[in-house]
Amino acid sequence: MNPIAKELNKTIIGSSPHVFEMLSDMGKSLFFPKGILSQSAQAREKADKINATIGIAKEGDSVLSLLSITKYIKDIKPDNYLPYASSFGIPKLRNKWKQGLYKKNPSLGTKTISLPVVTSGITHGVSILSDMWIDHGDVIVLPDMMWGNYNMTFCVRNHGRIVHYKTFDENLTRFNLDSFEKVIRSQARENDKIITVLNFPHNPSGYSLSVAEAERVASILIDIAQKGTNVVAACDDAYFGLFFEKETSKESIFTKLAGADKRLVAVKLDGATKEEYVWGFRTGFITYGIHGDNEMVLEALEKKTAGCIRGNISNSSHLSQTILLKSMADENYETYKKEKFELLKKRALKMKEVLKDPKFNDAFDVYPFNSGYFMCIRLKDVNAEDLRLHLLENYGTGLISIGEKNIRVAFSCLEENDVETLFDIILSGIFDLKKG
Ligand SMILES: Cc1ncc(COP(=O)(O)O)c(C=O)c1O
Repeated sequence: MNPIAKELNKTIIGSSPHVFEMLSDMGKSLFFPKGILSQSAQAREKADKINATIGIAKEGDSVLSLLSITKYIKDIKPDNYLPYASSFGIPKLRNKWKQGLYKKNPSLGTKTISLPVVTSGITHGVSILSDMWIDHGDVIVLPDMMWGNYNMTFCVRNHGRIVHYKTFDENLTRFNLDSFEKVIRSQARENDKIITVLNFPHNPSGYSLSVAEAERVASILIDIAQKGTNVVAACDDAYFGLFFEKETSKESIFTKLAGADKRLVAVKLDGATKEEYVWGFRTGFITYGIHGDNEMVLEALEKKTAGCIRGNISNSSHLSQTILLKSMADENYETYKKEKFELLKKRALKMKEVLKDPKFNDAFDVYPFNSGYFMCIRLKDVNAEDLRLHLLENYGTGLISIGEKNIRVAFSCLEENDVETLFDIILSGIFDLKKG
């Protein structure tokens, strides 16, 4: 094993031996190389005459650039977006995002968490989670309704084994805490380590836990950790902040899990993608919370994470990071965000109002939703894919079918005025199919 990896492992084992146990083989081997990057960092500080270290091109004191590129970005100097960003991400953005985490999650209080490492979107964060913590055959406990890409990352790429719990109770009134608890506890009995991803607001249902539910989910995970199972609990907070109802927990469940037990590693995966409405920017973050205020271990995990990035995409878009940082520092930032939040909230509430009409009752059930971008319906008598194709071909209407019975509607991209029309079209489509 590389000596730098050995050093990092020594630091982790020294005060958090269970965290070390939880790392995958790849996680144990990862390190951030000193090589070219640290030599050029040293040169940046000391080589005041000639610096011929790094693989970019320069002209005078600035980065070399083409006017046909730079003419499109008028307010930012090329030096602030053309050179590589660090594999860890731009330090100012990392610090700003961290400050934001404390502000958006006041219950974090004085808990120590890592400095967020910048990823190229949240999918990339999920993939890093998978590389660092999942070995061949490891169990990942997930709801039966889930973002399909988890399968690609955890199983196809890293050969983990997904075990499902039922997302909702049979009557579709709430999150199925009993099923969650049953599956978590039985997997904890059978395995030394389990991984779970808590995704609220949830894709595809648009559900977020109530305060009491979040408390219960966290307490189950903490309990099994206290009883001797190693737990990697990731929070996929892709849609964080888009909570539309009073009873919903407005903080990430990461706040309850970070630092809760020595056998529990909390990993927060979030980002600008959906929260800041910059899907193509590819800017996400990965942040760790472990037991004890152990900055050295957190730093070691940050270095392993940056090493994982260095060996894969090397670093994330500098331009995206620079623009995001400027946006977050904008004097109107909060106002702009509130404006768009209200727009999405109105659409979600309009959906609820339209769906109160009893005319839909015979055609489909509505899954509970209170947040995020989506909502789902469960069809009673027709097949979801048949309906999707029928609506596409006959009504020019596009929806997502999931499995045999579920249809996902993205209210995030639906004008409020179109909500009623959409559900009338769905109803007509169902009647057509039933008539045969
Ligand atoms: C639950 C969930 N996690 C992660 C992502 C991916 O986000 P990103 O586009 O930043 O990779 C999505 C996007 O669809 C999602 O729904």
